[in-house]
Amino acid sequence: MSNLEVVILAAGQGTRMRSSLPKVLHTLSGKPLLQHVIDTALKLNATKTHVVYGHGGEMVKESLAYNDVSWVIQEQQLGTGHAVAQSLPNIDDASNVLILYGDVPLTKLETLNRLIDAGRDTGIALLTVRLKDPYGYGRIVRSESGAVKRIVEQKDADDKTRLINEGNSGMLVVKAKLLKQWVERLDNNNVQGEFYLTDIIEMAVNDGIDVNSVICDDEDEVLGVNDRKQLAYLERVHQQRIADELMVQGVTVRDPHRLDIRGELVAGKDVELDVGVIIKGKVILGDNVKIGANSILIDSEVGSGTEVLPMSLVEQSVIGSHCVIGPYARLRPDTVLDNNVRIGNFVEIKKSDIGHGSKVNHLSYIGDSEIGKDVNVGAGTITCNYDGAHKHKTVIKDNAFIGSDTQLVAPVTIGKGATIAAGSTITRDVFDNNLTLTRVKQKSIENWQRPTKDKKDQ
Ligand code: UD1
Ligand code: CA
Repeated sequence: MSNLEVVILAAGQGTRMRSSLPKVLHTLSGKPLLQHVIDTALKLNATKTHVVYGHGGEMVKESLAYNDVSWVIQEQQLGTGHAVAQSLPNIDDASNVLILYGDVPLTKLETLNRLIDAGRDTGIALLTVRLKDPYGYGRIVRSESGAVKRIVEQKDADDKTRLINEGNSGMLVVKAKLLKQWVERLDNNNVQGEFYLTDIIEMAVNDGIDVNSVICDDEDEVLGVNDRKQLAYLERVHQQRIADELMVQGVTVRDPHRLDIRGELVAGKDVELDVGVIIKGKVILGDNVKIGANSILIDSEVGSGTEVLPMSLVEQSVIGSHCVIGPYARLRPDTVLDNNVRIGNFVEIKKSDIGHGSKVNHLSYIGDSEIGKDVNVGAGTITCNYDGAHKHKTVIKDNAFIGSDTQLVAPVTIGKGATIAAGSTITRDVFDNNLTLTRVKQKSIENWQRPTKDKKDQ
């Protein structure tokens, strides 16, 4: 069996996006269009993947440079045949070549494998599609017996040819040796003055080679992105597929139209995702985790039985099991919560470890801290971790009780079982089991007269 090499065409301008960003760098589910195609190509176990880039190309190449692909420049966009020609000097004669488009992100692996198999029979096979509205596509012209004869582009087609509803997806597989012969013979005698890759079909037929075909029954798999409406359409198609997969795995998705997975979600059993949830990067959810409406989770791990209540933002954090987070909580990077922790509304946590059973329930900022077990942090507590130049650490040991509206001026340590009275500003370490208060003593002035306004001021 001969080797497979993949050529991804990505040099087109994408004018209809009306964007300063090259089209193939626009994202679908948070990932550039071209990266979707590269990821699919890499899964085909090809010996080599070539990406033909052009317009705005340096940006494309630089931002996706980490991929194991070879980059081929097409200086001028003279057509799909010309684009493929640029890659041919690097392609082995004995290979099979699969052509993909960098702006067609949702083709399934199994469809491409069917196409590759079909190409083995005769040396060339096309992926075609039946279309309700074939406008814009090259049409597949077949003989009476059904054999593929040629492809005619929309702009070159006569009225009768335009009635054909079988369109060319653009994806095809062909033996390198044949491809090289045919591409050399291409000309640009057509309405658009371009070198059409599609003209190799007629050459194959003239050379007595049967052109095989695979008909794709899902139009979305071959749909390209030309404008932002198509981008939004394919985003929803993709999100629906992800939601379907999650539901098959046993995840409750309250509304698949209102879920956005822009990365990878690994979910245990009986996980529930409410509407408006956004997942970015890699997120791992244990069994029975519930994520409330409009919560955003980024590169985080959540232990089993934990509930994230609505409107919470969790980033680069590790949350234990049976915790309750939110509503309106913000966990910033390097937050680590043990099991049974409670983080309430309008609480911001950054780079802090919080021990088993501890609670930070209302309106607090906890940064650069280490909090032990069963600590109660009262409403409005602030760790003053930043002196304008450096960050300092706050340590609160097991069973401490921090009264409401306390400021902990770091670096500072609160001992085990210590109590801080409400409204205190703590600037020195507090020993175990002590009560510490820094309040001014309360005083009252009897029969106090409030100031009144003068007549002329009114
Ligand atoms: C092409 C096909 C048409 C097919 C349609 C499917 C040809 C001649 N026509 O038409 O049969 O139905 O796709 O969408 O092949 N590209 C380059 N360099 C170029 C020109 C194009 O890299 O010089 C890339 C584009 O970035 C794009 C792909 O090739 O990814 C297709 O180009 P496009 O201009 O969209 O081709 P269509 O005219 O739509
Ligand atoms: Ca196109």
